[in-house]
Amino acid sequence: MAKACYIHIPFCEHICSYCDFCKVLYQTKWVKSYLQALEKEIQVSYHDEILDTLYIGGGTPSSLSYTELEQLLQMLQIFQLSSNYEYTFECNIENIEEEKLCLLKKYGVNRISVGVETANSHLLHVLNRKHTKESIWYKIELMKKMGFTNINVDLMYALPGETLEDVEKDIEFILSLEVPHISTYSLILEPHTKLYIDGVKPIDEDLDFEMYQLIQNKLEQHGYIHYETSNYAKAGYESRHNCTYWDNEEYYGFGLGASGYYDGMRYENTRSFNHYLKGSYRIEEHTLSKLEKMQNEMILGLRKKKGVNREQFMLKYGCKIEEVFPIQELLDAGKLIDQNGFLTIPTIYQYVANEILIYFI
Ligand SMILES: C[S@@+](CC[C@H](N)C(=O)[O-])C[C@H]1O[C@@H](n2cnc3c(N)ncnc32)[C@H](O)[C@@H]1O
Ligand code: SF4
Repeated sequence: MAKACYIHIPFCEHICSYCDFCKVLYQTKWVKSYLQALEKEIQVSYHDEILDTLYIGGGTPSSLSYTELEQLLQMLQIFQLSSNYEYTFECNIENIEEEKLCLLKKYGVNRISVGVETANSHLLHVLNRKHTKESIWYKIELMKKMGFTNINVDLMYALPGETLEDVEKDIEFILSLEVPHISTYSLILEPHTKLYIDGVKPIDEDLDFEMYQLIQNKLEQHGYIHYETSNYAKAGYESRHNCTYWDNEEYYGFGLGASGYYDGMRYENTRSFNHYLKGSYRIEEHTLSKLEKMQNEMILGLRKKKGVNREQFMLKYGCKIEEVFPIQELLDAGKLIDQNGFLTIPTIYQYVANEILIYFI
């Protein structure tokens, strides 16, 4: 049974040089057909559960016009929400504005996630982002004025030619925005993106690690909890929707390229716009074995700072973690800590968590 739901809106007004997400260039004529197809998909698959979290992501959901946005929000009222739900909307600085924010308020959105990435004008240009430092400041203030208290900003680092000083300036700027949640991502050079095709090379690994540490230190000094590999929040502002993923709980995923986990089955939707419009939504469905579920429980759970709860694991799967996975080797090497009923990756190894997670596959 799912208590969380992700909705994908694939439209973007421009394509960023690093992005490999499922997206298409915004065109009014395509939005109308897309929203119709999305509505059909939801009607067929949603089983009226009461949801704790709803997340509209992209692409760029804020690229929709006012009328299209209202149509989407109205359609999503089909979902039943619990009394203390979290309802997130992802937006870009350049196309979120007062009228759209008003609409989001009216339809109960209570969390905004904004792609800031960097405030450095040269790096914004390299990323093909269309906002400025001033507009970031202005739009975040506007959101606050309109009563949005739960705001996330995405920050990217390890960008082409970026120095430690550049990252420090970005962090100072992000801190000055005084938002309760910050996601930080080291640039991944994905094939098929402009940066990759242009032959841009990743920055030095040691410098990447220094940037990671700098961000961690600065944010922790300012009261942010590093609660997941890439995520920091003030107490009580952890993303409940994303915690569904890391807790290995089930969730719906609707829309082009969306993925979901329902009734023991992981599924992935097509990235083909034409197929989606014709109603053939899914390209892959896989019912998980008990072992696969336990592997996911460890791989996703160990991304969280608090780690995996041993008792929860026992309750869910009827066995102890060490009966399934050879964790003693990791404990002996100090790469896992067994404390207060939780298995955790120690802070010094969090940066290389993937090397540890391999043990669970
Ligand atoms: C799909 S975007 C959605 C939000 C919105 N469209 C935007 O761009 O602001 C989610 C976030 O993933 C991060 N991201 C996307 N591609 C990335 C890449 N290649 N490397 C690192 N982070 C990336 C960016 O921080 C981005 O804000
Ligand atoms: S990063 Fe965001 S705005 Fe840029 S192309 Fe990707 S989804 Fe669209």
